[in-house]
Amino acid sequence: MANIALVLTVCLLGFYAPAPSLASSSNNNNDDDFLQCLSTNIPSQLVLTPTSPSFTPLLVSSIRNARLVAPAKANPPLCIVTPTNASHVQAVVRCGRRHSVRVRVRSGGHDNEGLSYRSTTPNGEKFAVIDLAKLHAIHVNPHKATAWVETGATTGELYYRVATAAPGLGFPASVCPTVGVGGIISGGGIGLMMRKYGLSADNVLDASMVDAKGNLLANKKAMGDDLFWAIRGGGGGNFGIVLSWKLRLVPVPPKVTFFKVAKTMEQGAVDAVTKWQTLAPALPDDLSVRVVIQKSKATFQSLYLGNCSTVVATMHSRFPELGVTTADCKEMSWLQYTAYIYFGDAINSKPLEALLLNRSMTLGPFVKNKSDYVKKALTKETLEKIFLWPNGAGSGQLILEPHGGVMGRIAADETPFPHRRGVLYNIQYVELWNFNGAPGGEVTPNWIGSLYDFMTPYVSKNPRRAYVNYRDLDMGVNKVVDGVTCYVTARMWGERYFGPANFWRLSNVKRKVDASDYFRNEQSVPPLSI
Ligand SMILES: Cc1cc2nc3c(=O)[nH]c(=O)nc-3n(C[C@H](O)[C@H](O)[C@H](O)COP(=O)(O)OP(=O)(O)OC[C@H]3O[C@@H](n4cnc5c(N)ncnc54)[C@H](O)[C@@H]3O)c2cc1C
Ligand SMILES: *[C@@H]1O[C@H](CO)[C@@H](O)[C@H](O)[C@H]1NC(C)=O
Ligand SMILES: *[C@@H]1O[C@H](CO)[C@@H](O)[C@H](O)[C@H]1NC(C)=O
Ligand SMILES: *[C@@H]1O[C@H](CO)[C@@H](O)[C@H](O)[C@H]1NC(C)=O
Ligand SMILES: *[C@@H]1O[C@H](CO)[C@@H](O)[C@H](O)[C@H]1NC(C)=O
Repeated sequence: MANIALVLTVCLLGFYAPAPSLASSSNNNNDDDFLQCLSTNIPSQLVLTPTSPSFTPLLVSSIRNARLVAPAKANPPLCIVTPTNASHVQAVVRCGRRHSVRVRVRSGGHDNEGLSYRSTTPNGEKFAVIDLAKLHAIHVNPHKATAWVETGATTGELYYRVATAAPGLGFPASVCPTVGVGGIISGGGIGLMMRKYGLSADNVLDASMVDAKGNLLANKKAMGDDLFWAIRGGGGGNFGIVLSWKLRLVPVPPKVTFFKVAKTMEQGAVDAVTKWQTLAPALPDDLSVRVVIQKSKATFQSLYLGNCSTVVATMHSRFPELGVTTADCKEMSWLQYTAYIYFGDAINSKPLEALLLNRSMTLGPFVKNKSDYVKKALTKETLEKIFLWPNGAGSGQLILEPHGGVMGRIAADETPFPHRRGVLYNIQYVELWNFNGAPGGEVTPNWIGSLYDFMTPYVSKNPRRAYVNYRDLDMGVNKVVDGVTCYVTARMWGERYFGPANFWRLSNVKRKVDASDYFRNEQSVPPLSI
């Protein structure tokens, strides 16, 4: 990595030959020419501009975070394209390059900072959004235990199609079934089966995508090893537009078990979480027990790939303090579980189709999330302070997800996702608040920022790690020098998401496949320009 010094010089002085780049702000002629170019390649009903009454409803349709609605409307895209086949996606990229308009691609729209549909540059570059929601076909091959899924599908749709076409098979992905497979698999994909089967991205066998020139790369052979490596965890929006994934499906038993045990501080919550930190990553691979800490209370929730009596016996011998009994258990099919963990008892009154295939969702409160990785267990004293952290104006929550199992047995450079051996668990800090319209009410309450600062000495270091799918713009945003994003600036978050070595490799891949940095956003991977 001796080259970093060179890059540093280059970024600060900006004297290297600029790569061919797009104008940073395009004029109206370009915009009209761009729309004209689209209209000759894409049926007009698939291209919505802000003058259309359907534009704003479509723009906000998959926004998951109320905090991002006003910013998205304030600087809307030139148009939203809803492709129904690959040639439409290629056309947007080709027209965009020709007429200096960038694209952002949206699958499930859950990006924590909304980078799939909004640009944070004030009066910034013009962009178009490709909304993939209409490309959501799923083809399951039960005999080979594989599936091709188009990237506009949600994980809920994937779970439903897999389990109904191939009972006994499942797929490891998000707890929340409204997440898009485009974004989650691009960034890794963690969930309650990762200890047994790894990340979603670890189970990608092949893919198809549109590259920065607008070419269709139909499979991994067309991509080459480096690009195929980069798209499986290197973060969405960086290397091209993935159209479909070929997935390895995994065996699940006829019944799985959920249990839930809540403990207050008086009931020993702090001791229990202290022990949980090293116990949960060492449990059998088919048992995941995560913890949610909120309002000084800890709630332990499980997925066990087996029956209630077995998991109660395991917990009784390994973690008797938790006091799990058969009364805390619910046995159900894996598919029911994917709905239950998110919708709870609604699964008793609504068909699974209505829950897992429903793409419309109610907009929740304002949200700000951050993440950490823990490699050394926190002391009881530190945890006590966390439990009592002042609640501020909002209502904060910590979600601790155990790693270990298969996650610890995959090498850190196998995919761009580096958080493998030695990681005990991931922390997601969640700040939720309601915006009452009062001036300043959109500002994130200090609970999350102050707790994150407090945690600095206790979590991973050099650099402090974070999960790219829990994107956080507080870590910094890209700086553009001579038309290309600067590597040195990007290291501030890139090395935290991917580790220094993987980030270096990702930037090299970016240089190979998108040297002029067409696919760019606030935290995209920069092409290594040396
Ligand atoms: C309610 C909720 C629950 C979550 N639960 C989990 C969880 O359990 N596990 C977990 O790992 N993560 C979870 N996440 C985080 C989630 O994985 C990321 O936000 C993910 O990026 C969302 O994917 P998406 O397609 O819905 O988002 P989008 O906003 O559509 O996309 C996210 C990013 O990927 C890019 N992108 C989207 N589609 C493509 C594509 N086809 N090709 C290339 N780039 C693309 C976008 O441009 C953007 O940069 C959760 C998020 C939310 C809001
Ligand atoms: C994609 O749609 C266009 C119409 O917009 C059509 O002409 C073309 O044949 C379609 N391509 C494929 C591969 O289906
Ligand atoms: C933050 O995390 C929580 C818990 O996983 C999730 O429900 C919420 O949707 C996330 N919000 C955003 C904006 O990412
Ligand atoms: C639970 O699973 C174990 C191990 O597979 C099996 O031996 C046992 O009979 C099962 N118990 C019940 C009640 O189904
Ligand atoms: C889909 O979800 C939305 C939001 O929660 C709800 O209003 C709607 O009734 C649901 N649709 C169905 C068919 O259940």
